[in-house]
Amino acid sequence: MGSKFPFYKICIVGDFGVGKTTLLHQYLERRFCQSVTSTIGSNFFVKRIKIPDVENLITLQIWDLAGQHRFKWVRQQFYKGAKGIVYVFDLTRKKTFDNLPNWKNEIENIIQNFSSILVGNKTDLIDNKKDYIEKVDSENLKQYLGACDYFEASAKSGSNVEDFFFKLITNMYKLFK
Ligand code: GTP
Repeated sequence: MGSKFPFYKICIVGDFGVGKTTLLHQYLERRFCQSVTSTIGSNFFVKRIKIPDVENLITLQIWDLAGQHRFKWVRQQFYKGAKGIVYVFDLTRKKTFDNLPNWKNEIENIIQNFSSILVGNKTDLIDNKKDYIEKVDSENLKQYLGACDYFEASAKSGSNVEDFFFKLITNMYKLFK
């Protein structure tokens, strides 16, 4: 049975340098931090948010997990209990898109019952005329990951950052309230 005071753990994952820490700074503080250092192991943040038709605030515990391969063993212990996953790739580096199925495997080795969202970050660096990731490819990856939606965002301009978190949170609430 759900609690009157919903609490959800979310993990933000994706390859080294895709912008996980920067997206979180933008979400939590509404600003772009130019010089965040590479995450070592993990950090977590807490945020309370209101969603329509839900009386009490929802508490989010958001874990920022280091993207480098050498932290794989550290990351695994942090997936336990997560009900939301943000899969992030860098729109300017196709390799980070192609690698997300490996992240899905890593996570699903530990947890099975969660909601997720796919995010292509760094739209501010993309020239629209030569869109790097085709719509059909992002749609296929979204389906493969089992993600509830796909957003293109920018941790620099802030574009779509609140929106993708909001979508994930409302989806989590629907599934796990
Ligand atoms: P790890 O913690 O090492 O896994 O990396 P990360 O995914 O947390 O990436 P991080 O947030 O450290 O960002 C990597 C670099 O990309 C930094 O120099 C950021 O300033 C830059 N960056 C992140 N998001 C954006 C964005 O939306 N636009 C631009 N132009 N740069 C960005």
